Amino acid sequence: MIRIEHLARSFKSESANRPGAPPRRWWQPARRTSVHAVRDISFTAENGRITGLLGPNGAGKTTTLRILAGLISPDAGTIHVDGIDVVAQPAAGLARMGILSDARGLYPRLTARENIVYFARLHGLSREQAEQRADVLGELLEMKPLLERRTAGFSQGERMKTALARALAHDPSHIVLDEPTNGLDVLATRALRRILLRLRTAEGGNKCIVISTHIMQEVEKLCDHVVVVAGGRSVAAGSVDELLQRTSHSNFEDAFVQLAFDGGAP
Ligand SMILES: Nc1ncnc2c1ncn2[C@@H]1O[C@H](COP(=O)(O)OP(=O)(O)O)[C@@H](O)[C@H]1O
Ligand SMILES: [Mg+2]
Repeated sequence: MIRIEHLARSFKSESANRPGAPPRRWWQPARRTSVHAVRDISFTAENGRITGLLGPNGAGKTTTLRILAGLISPDAGTIHVDGIDVVAQPAAGLARMGILSDARGLYPRLTARENIVYFARLHGLSREQAEQRADVLGELLEMKPLLERRTAGFSQGERMKTALARALAHDPSHIVLDEPTNGLDVLATRALRRILLRLRTAEGGNKCIVISTHIMQEVEKLCDHVVVVAGGRSVAAGSVDELLQRTSHSNFEDAFVQLAFDGGAP
């Protein structure tokens, strides 16, 4: 289970010169402004459920997931994974998480299997265990025919599966995916949904799955629990049905727009 409470994070960003102002000389400090990427985000993601962070571009989804993955630290707030404080103990948190970031760097000269085995070894599996794990993942992610191919030249869908297999190399109980269907065609998208739904169930490991997306249909098809994120804040949470009821809309797009942009008012 993942529990995030009152997360906040801002970035310093260099701003352009104001129009009409004299150009900045090399010895003058750059004008810096603060970008509040995440202002106040709280949510709980349970095991055996797919939790979706749904929000427009720039809402703060990637920043939230990067903090969860221990890549950057928060300015405020807490993150617990199975009760472990991830900010204080990033390694213990990471051992429980498989993370598919929006940048899916694979080693192009390695085969899909070698990519998976390499990551499994980094997580401390023996060579034999790692090879076995690659076979299991080949089956689970419907990618057996890909395993012995070098990843250079893989299609988007094939790259995504390999990156996901790599993220699952150590059989983590928590799976975090940032916009996983970006750039995938309809068949690859459906394959990914099938895989995530399988991972969620007891046979697939009863995983705690968190995805971010800006696509409403994705959430409707996939997510048991939805956290609507806008302007760096979590503004509403519940199942798709609950959010529909709360807004008295019959269409989830209308419900989402109301929750994300109209302050929740009907
Ligand atoms: N490293 C960074 N430096 C400056 N601004 C950033 C940085 N990362 C994110 N931001 C800003 O924070 C906001 C939220 O970004 P992000 O978390 O990527 O949103 P999302 O993933 O929901 O589209 C955006 O306005 C973005 O420009
Ligand atoms: Mg993003």
